[in-house]
Amino acid sequence: MNVQVKTEIPRCPGAPTFQEIMRSDGGIIKDVLVAQSNPPQSRDDIPFNKYISQDFANLEMKKVWEKVWQYVCREDQVAEPGDYLVYDIGHHSIVVVRADDGALKAYHNSCLHRGTKLKPSESSGWSATIQCPYHGWTWNLDGTLNEVPCAWEFPHLDYGKNRLPEVQVDVWNGLVFINMDKDAPPLLEYLGVLPEHFRDWPWTDWYLFMHLEKELYCNWKTAQEAFMEAYHTPLVHPELTQVVGDWNMQHDVFDDHVTRDLCALAVPSPAAKKTISEQERIDRVLLGGRSPDGKSVTLQEGQSARNAMAKQVRKAMADGFGMDTSSFSDAEMIDSIKYNLFPNIFLYTGMALRSIHRVKPIKHDPNRCTFEVLMMRPVPKGQPRPDPAQMVKIPEAMPYVDVKELAAFPLSQITFDQDTGNLRAQHEGMLASAKGAETLSIYQESRIRAFHDTLDKYMAK
Ligand code: FES
Ligand SMILES: [Fe+2]
Repeated sequence: MNVQVKTEIPRCPGAPTFQEIMRSDGGIIKDVLVAQSNPPQSRDDIPFNKYISQDFANLEMKKVWEKVWQYVCREDQVAEPGDYLVYDIGHHSIVVVRADDGALKAYHNSCLHRGTKLKPSESSGWSATIQCPYHGWTWNLDGTLNEVPCAWEFPHLDYGKNRLPEVQVDVWNGLVFINMDKDAPPLLEYLGVLPEHFRDWPWTDWYLFMHLEKELYCNWKTAQEAFMEAYHTPLVHPELTQVVGDWNMQHDVFDDHVTRDLCALAVPSPAAKKTISEQERIDRVLLGGRSPDGKSVTLQEGQSARNAMAKQVRKAMADGFGMDTSSFSDAEMIDSIKYNLFPNIFLYTGMALRSIHRVKPIKHDPNRCTFEVLMMRPVPKGQPRPDPAQMVKIPEAMPYVDVKELAAFPLSQITFDQDTGNLRAQHEGMLASAKGAETLSIYQESRIRAFHDTLDKYMAK
């Protein structure tokens, strides 16, 4: 691992760093988690115009969303010839489909007769061909035009020229991405350090067991930025104060598209005012929804809450999925190892938390977005791959504590609700602002800064 760009930025004084916590666990240390990267950054304010302006949102659609690689779905969601899934962004709609020869294809979801959407937005399923629901023009899965009803009406139609217009599509680590820009660099190049960093973290043998989507009243960037820092955590999520290393989390900026945070769990926040025992700490961690069997454990003399938690997760992985976790460190087992891929996804690649968060604007509206949580589990060894979960839509007014799918994760329910309330308040505050800009901290919010630096590069092209 070659990334070691360190600048002298002060870190949370007096608190252990993620590196120190990881080393105190003993056992395996992975180079990928030792790497740190903090290139110099500007300290200028960032204008709220980028979050609230309709003109900016319109331009962002053209200059960013139409140019970047975007995560669509897992590859197992379009595994067999005829499987399709529709991905929407702004007014764009893309059908991703597995062709008869096994190739993955992506087409603009619009009929070449009179424009009707070929498949409904956000739909998925199976079909032998792609048939327009209006007059029945039909394409083969490879995009060639198969049939036009009343063909005698179209002597002027060149079948060869009426292939469905394609969009770039590619797969990395079991994840399907599209890019509407025909001249965009290849996905692998776009992914920067990700393929190298994820060498020990294949996602292919995992499946999607929960997919939630909630509508939020805020700009998509605002929603995303709540997950790029833990500066707000002690105040907004006091339930986490004894179990999450928030202000001392590690933040890395690797390249234009990839940033990362490493957040230690089962440790106190530097903001914790009270000292509790490691036994109390493991009780809070496990009974907060992280215990696979809903029970606590009694710590042995000198055992840390982290070690006990890692043991619990290793046992759950072995018992539930037949997984051998002996090559993974305790940090890989329990911590939040979260990579942000520009523009809009987080990949949580730790074993206990493997999931994707995705935010997207709703159409071209700068004031509304969707926030998705996609949780993964390993495919149990020797068993057929379970079907991927269908998406469950949650209205903005419905709190996460009422979402039955999340009942086994009470801490997530509480913290997501706390964030949801804040995001509306932040967006409304941006609209009400006299200052008209935000002032970022230099380390804990450095990934928000990095995101805006990249956004600015795309907007300037
Ligand atoms: S609009 Fe699609 S067949 Fe007419
Ligand atoms: Fe939060």
